[in-house]
Amino acid sequence: MNKSATIDFTTATNAPAQTQALLELIAGEARDSLLGVHEVLRRELPQGRLAIYEAGGGSSSFLPMDVLGRSHVTVVDIDEDQVRNNTYADDAILGDVQTYRFGPETFDVVICYNVIEHLPDVEAALVNFRDALKQGGMILIGAPNPNSLSGVVTKYSPHWFHVWFYRNIRGIKNAGQPGEPPFPTYFHPLVTLSKLEAFAAAHGLEMIYRREVESPRYPEMRRRKPLFAALVDAGAAVMNAVLPRGTDVRRGDYHVILRKR
Ligand SMILES: C[S@@+](CC[C@H](N)C(=O)[O-])C[C@H]1O[C@@H](n2cnc3c(N)ncnc32)[C@H](O)[C@@H]1O
Repeated sequence: MNKSATIDFTTATNAPAQTQALLELIAGEARDSLLGVHEVLRRELPQGRLAIYEAGGGSSSFLPMDVLGRSHVTVVDIDEDQVRNNTYADDAILGDVQTYRFGPETFDVVICYNVIEHLPDVEAALVNFRDALKQGGMILIGAPNPNSLSGVVTKYSPHWFHVWFYRNIRGIKNAGQPGEPPFPTYFHPLVTLSKLEAFAAAHGLEMIYRREVESPRYPEMRRRKPLFAALVDAGAAVMNAVLPRGTDVRRGDYHVILRKR
């Protein structure tokens, strides 16, 4: 497999190039947070060659290009089409991240981005990731916030509604076809950020980065479907007004980095 990249000519000339996945992420809090994640990774990762495990890697990476460029990337994904379409991994393995085991202390970084919400056994997956990490290695998790407006709707609505939303609101015509998102969701209790943090602390993982962000679906909807977005924004504003001060139900996603002690 070869590593493909797209250079971001739109950013300042000194800024590191970004992957296609990040370029496609619409400007907003989620993108800002990912750039913050990149800074942490650049600061904390050792120099030289890196070993990276993308758990449920799919076919695109959110890692910075300069990190990808000096890494051996192993992807494990349960979907044959996702594995076949992957162009950036050095090793792409068809497998289940809940049961697939690597040798101890194999990786510098594990990335599990938009995946834990799809897993019935998040606990098993997290323990596998921790065991496969070198000491001081990091797990990057991006996931939906089950307590947000989009989290509650996603958690309690049927899969056909997710497919409808992707096709009609997001405009992704092949959504729901084999190997294409959306994938079925489970929302195991550990997807809730407070529970994830407690589990991590009890399993030798320190949370060194944590940020809840407005779901990128909001800026995307405002651009694509302004009327629909205005209705959703108004509903969110009403909920924020009646919920405890400081709550923002639009914070539909989060990013965390866990470091192995
Ligand atoms: C929403 S996609 C995210 C893909 C990629 N990480 C990204 O952010 O673009 C979820 C991915 O998780 C994979 N997946 C779901 N359950 C899995 C499991 N038990 N083991 C491995 N991969 C899994 C799906 O096949 C899919 O590729």
